[in-house]
Amino acid sequence: MHTLGINAVYHDSSACLIRDGTVVAAAEEERFTHEKHAKRPVPFSTWELPYHAIDYCLREAGIDLVDVDHVAYSYDPHLLGGQHRGATTITLPLEPSAHPVPSEWEAAWDPLFLSSIVNAPRQLADGAPHHLRARFRGARPDGPYQWHFVAHHLAHAASAFHASPFDHAAILTLDGRGEQATTAYGLGDGNQIAWLGQVNMPHSLGILYEQVTSYLGFLHSSDEYKVMALASYGKPAFLAGFREVVQVGESGQYTIQPPCLIEAFLRWSKLPYRRMSDVAAEVATLLVRDQVIGWFQGRMEFGPRALGARSILASPIHAEMQARLNDIKDREDFRPVAPVVLEEEAAKWFVDAGVSPFMLFVHDVRPEKADRIPAVRHVDGTARIQTINRSQNARYYDLLRTFHERTGVPVLVNTSFNTRGEPIVCTPRDAVESFWTSPLDALAVGSFLVQKQPREA
Ligand SMILES: [Fe+2]
Repeated sequence: MHTLGINAVYHDSSACLIRDGTVVAAAEEERFTHEKHAKRPVPFSTWELPYHAIDYCLREAGIDLVDVDHVAYSYDPHLLGGQHRGATTITLPLEPSAHPVPSEWEAAWDPLFLSSIVNAPRQLADGAPHHLRARFRGARPDGPYQWHFVAHHLAHAASAFHASPFDHAAILTLDGRGEQATTAYGLGDGNQIAWLGQVNMPHSLGILYEQVTSYLGFLHSSDEYKVMALASYGKPAFLAGFREVVQVGESGQYTIQPPCLIEAFLRWSKLPYRRMSDVAAEVATLLVRDQVIGWFQGRMEFGPRALGARSILASPIHAEMQARLNDIKDREDFRPVAPVVLEEEAAKWFVDAGVSPFMLFVHDVRPEKADRIPAVRHVDGTARIQTINRSQNARYYDLLRTFHERTGVPVLVNTSFNTRGEPIVCTPRDAVESFWTSPLDALAVGSFLVQKQPREA
């Protein structure tokens, strides 16, 4: 009995021929085409089969493709697009990555990827290049061999366990990814493999390794061995960071958490900081205590106004806050500071206030509210307001709403995060420098809080 194994989905496409349980030949396609790793693991190359390697294996065995009894292909498309099993059609947009990923797919190119794999039997029967056709002649999409799509990690496990000298063994497989699995573990017993568990996308130690390879300037899915060699020259300077990225869970599970660049910076700078569990609640508490907060969140604003991404925030409830802020920013003392107000509350606090997300319009403060927000009321009774709703900036909105719940005032002072003559801060480092060289009380940078000695202490 002859079994032909084909690996083709990602990289290092290859073939293997087994006769009655003995390996007759195995080869990688790159040896024949002189293209290293045979192909790049991109959706457009998924259909390519290792024809030269297959031809070589058949030749070594002295048979043609039609003499093969079983073909095993090391990927099971039904595990990728299970909901499409048995479907006669799927939809492939003409420019998949130009549109949002449809909910039934994990990635934009999955439909093309899936169709390339599902059609591998047709491709094997019809696609061999002209100079190799002799040994492929007579093959049809339905055989005469029997086709088997094999779960990717089962193929990895089988290639290691069945070739090992052990009858019983623990099995652990890790790669970039298979269909869903990125890691699998189980027990091998005789010719049986029983899985105990697997880790699924998007958590993949292999892809993390690929990303490190790319980050270092090498080609991923290719040059990982160079990183291995380079590692011997290094010291584990980033061990703590990687331990945060890779979180070990129960029963063989792990997750990969994207690294937080802000936290990496704070750690690097040796600043005392802590992660807030509820940013809105904790910062609102400081604002209620009349602390002045540097607020650095997400991408920065475009244009001259700080709108809640690079802002200095304070309570408007006491009149002296305006002078304090002008002192912190080293501004002329006649200049007003502006308010941000919950969009749904704006008209109750400012005359004729509509939606004003860019802080462009001046309104009179309603006379009955004037003594509640003296710090943002200019000498002529006006204020240039920013209105905010939750869809514009959820964290900023939640902060304001929490402050409203605690004080009855849906308004904060919002002035740009900069000190004298400086443009608005850009990076976390700018924010930290501005914070430590001015009398700001606390800095909320992402989910992290940096504080000086509390004023009341
Ligand atoms: Fe793999």
